[in-house]
Amino acid sequence: MAIYEINGGTPLNGSVVISGAKNAAVAILPAALLVKGRCRIENVPDISDVRILLSILSGMGAVIRTPEPGVVEMDCTDIRQTLPDPALVKKMRASYYLMGVLLGRFHHSHVALPGGCSFASRPIDQHIKGFKALGALVEEGNDYVAMNPGPHGLQGNRVSLDVVSVGATVNIMLAATLLPGRTVIENAAKEPHIVDLANFLNTMGADISGAGTDTVKIRGVASLQGGTYTIIPDQIEAGTYIAAVAATGGDVLVKNVIPKHMDCITSKLEEMGAQITNYDDSIRIVSNGRLNATTVKTRPYPGFPTDMQAQICVCMALAKGESRLTESVYETRFFGYCTELESMGAYIQIDGKTATVYGMEKLHGATVRARDLRAGAALVIAGLAASGTTRVENIHYVERGYERLIEKLTALGAKIHRVEE
Ligand code: UD1
Repeated sequence: MAIYEINGGTPLNGSVVISGAKNAAVAILPAALLVKGRCRIENVPDISDVRILLSILSGMGAVIRTPEPGVVEMDCTDIRQTLPDPALVKKMRASYYLMGVLLGRFHHSHVALPGGCSFASRPIDQHIKGFKALGALVEEGNDYVAMNPGPHGLQGNRVSLDVVSVGATVNIMLAATLLPGRTVIENAAKEPHIVDLANFLNTMGADISGAGTDTVKIRGVASLQGGTYTIIPDQIEAGTYIAAVAATGGDVLVKNVIPKHMDCITSKLEEMGAQITNYDDSIRIVSNGRLNATTVKTRPYPGFPTDMQAQICVCMALAKGESRLTESVYETRFFGYCTELESMGAYIQIDGKTATVYGMEKLHGATVRARDLRAGAALVIAGLAASGTTRVENIHYVERGYERLIEKLTALGAKIHRVEE
């Protein structure tokens, strides 16, 4: 087992280049299965979730090449195996996108239930509602979902989501792209990676409009052809580095970002006292590490992302005064890291969906355990800001979503090592 060992208290300085967005990559790579032809996908992050996905796809017959770092070329013209390896599917969350893709291309699918970060119960009833609306007969087994066309076949339809769900919006888009007729997803999620998926599919010949609004419209097309596409930068990776500088102090230029995607995060950190300057595709953050208390409520995009809840909590733990952090997407997410932060000297009171964070002058190093991806990232930030040595265990969670984390942080002056135990 490997751990991160961090000697905290050193300000972060210099520049960091943000990788391609994890949540876009894990939707776009399976989407390439809808394409008969060669897709060249650029700015693909080298993270474990992507590696697992590529193994699943190659096991199904996709011909995959990685001609250079960050580039994946994939040809899914001849798929010989439509049953994705259940053992690999269970290793990650976004493997559930294979349900929509297989239904759309082959009109049947049999996919194991996904694994991934379990910071909350993560139902997929809205995905199923969408598949049924498109005409699928859905069989929900204990550990799989199987789908076949219903008596009237598969075709576009109107689907109104009961909750704003990124996964359900993506899965319905994937299923509907090649089906005859028009699909309209109402109450759709608006996250940047929904827009990125629509742009990818449209580049390959799909007819999707409205992505980024709460109504996504898909007019089914007969086929998609190959092409080249570049994935957007990772909003949450960028937010994590920005939060790390805010908490630790320093002066960092965060490169390869779309500043508009970052507004919901940077506006809060500015409110807390960090200095933020937006450029065309980079953001400079300057912080003396002493922040002011604030109030944050997580919401679907364009609100403050739940995937930044844990990282902003570390900033609050080091701010002057009492902050309030309310989670409205995944209620149980606090339990992934608050106790660990308390072992580093933080004082947090959780009451249902709201945590009151009493800011401290300093955190101190401790041995802590990551329980999910973003919780792990928050513990790394806490370790960078704390005095003394922090050891973060269970780092496989962090490696799911952060490309070359140690290398990037070390270049900023952090004292962090990956130690094999
Ligand atoms: C995606 C992100 C994840 C992020 C989350 C919320 C990917 C691969 N993952 O996860 O990093 O934390 O969005 O921004 O993009 N819900 C239902 N029924 C469903 C689906 C969802 O009730 O069928 C609920 C969930 O319990 C949650 C809310 O809807 O309360 C939002 O979940 P959703 O947007 O679907 O999250 P994911 O797509 O799993």
